[in-house]
Amino acid sequence: MTQPPSSLEEELERYAFSFPILDKLTDYFAEEGRLEGKKIGWHCHLTGLTAAAAKVLLKSGAKLFISECTAATTDWAAVTYMKQIGASVYQGFDSPRKVLENRPEVTSDTGFVLTTEYLKDAESGSNYVSAGCEITTSGVHRLREYADLPLPVLNINDGELKALIENYHGVGDGVIEGLFRLTWRVWAGRAVSVVGYGKVGAGVANYLRRAGATVFVVEVDPIRQLVAHYDGFALMDLHGALANTELIVTATGSRGVIGAHELPILRDGAVLMNVGHWAEEIDMAAIRQSAKSQKPVAKHLEEYVLADGDSSRKIYVIAAGGPANVVLLSGSPEPTLIHLTTELLCMNYLVGLNENGVVLKPGENAVPREVERRASILALQCLGLSGCMKAPELQPVSSLKVV
Ligand SMILES: NC(=O)c1ccc[n+]([C@@H]2O[C@H](COP(=O)([O-])OP(=O)(O)OC[C@H]3O[C@@H](n4cnc5c(N)ncnc54)[C@H](O)[C@@H]3O)[C@@H](O)[C@H]2O)c1
Repeated sequence: MTQPPSSLEEELERYAFSFPILDKLTDYFAEEGRLEGKKIGWHCHLTGLTAAAAKVLLKSGAKLFISECTAATTDWAAVTYMKQIGASVYQGFDSPRKVLENRPEVTSDTGFVLTTEYLKDAESGSNYVSAGCEITTSGVHRLREYADLPLPVLNINDGELKALIENYHGVGDGVIEGLFRLTWRVWAGRAVSVVGYGKVGAGVANYLRRAGATVFVVEVDPIRQLVAHYDGFALMDLHGALANTELIVTATGSRGVIGAHELPILRDGAVLMNVGHWAEEIDMAAIRQSAKSQKPVAKHLEEYVLADGDSSRKIYVIAAGGPANVVLLSGSPEPTLIHLTTELLCMNYLVGLNENGVVLKPGENAVPREVERRASILALQCLGLSGCMKAPELQPVSSLKVV
């Protein structure tokens, strides 16, 4: 099990030791020299991983303006570090506006927040962002609500790497590691449920199954229900999951999945964990209102005693309902480092659009194949697998010996 690092410096050292993809990316950017002096606006979780990526951009000569995605995931040491190395970091609800006051040329967004704010400027005729990227499912849903976006936006979320590596393996691995670290329980043999069977939920369900848990899936979309079924999971309705399983993990991208109506159904001792982007999948206000008492069991694990007439039940909430793997910094950072590499390569790609004569249509664009290939090559190099990229010399069958 990974131990959380004791300081940001140690965290950065450990990324460089365990999976030095960002060092390789720095070398790649230095060769290209495209980011020098370019202004980038970035709306993201302010974590140690972000700080590691910010360092790459700043070393490559970019000017970086960063806004806070949610205070629930902000690591103050990371904020201080990023400011020290030259990034402008803004926090609070108006932080996207403060980023835009610096008139970035390219943006990268988490939840389509920065771009939505920018569209107000664009509507009043002030055009300075030439292109942007979006990394989350929730953000892509918001992006698609706009019929005529005035700028091209790369959808990183639906690229192969984000969906299959970070959303699936990264969150799944993070859930398992965070759960063990916080609860000290062996989850093998326990009944657990995953609400939402998109890429994130599917990864979580599969990693919980690997840990030996009996996993039930709650899903509203018949297509995803069918996929979950053929992946070997029993389907359940939300009521059944809340009443019968010990752990409920939400991964839907919807708000208020577990709210005031659901609380009376939860079994005694249930543990609630959210990994969706919004901190509102679990309605914390409703839980606090229904609780007659609350106390921390450990950092990021809170016990609530719910009043039930004469009796009472205890429920436990991880990371105050925020995206648990992000708040807990749990799981291997490799998938997230690969994702960050892709995101930074996208920023670099967008900055070079005019120079390369590449034209993107306004609105949603797929993440370029060449970007994902470059990120994969850097990852394979870190894994010592770059030799596998060459076609092996085939031996004639007659020369093979059977032992
Ligand atoms: N924690 C992380 O590190 C991390 C990483 C990537 C994405 N995310 C977030 O996780 C969430 C899920 O991402 P995804 O890529 O799997 O999205 P997705 O849209 O592919 O899947 C979500 C699934 O949840 C289902 N769903 C929606 N509301 C539901 C409800 N009330 N009950 C049951 N099922 C419901 C949908 O039908 C869908 O199949 C998003 O908010 C995304 O931004 C978090």
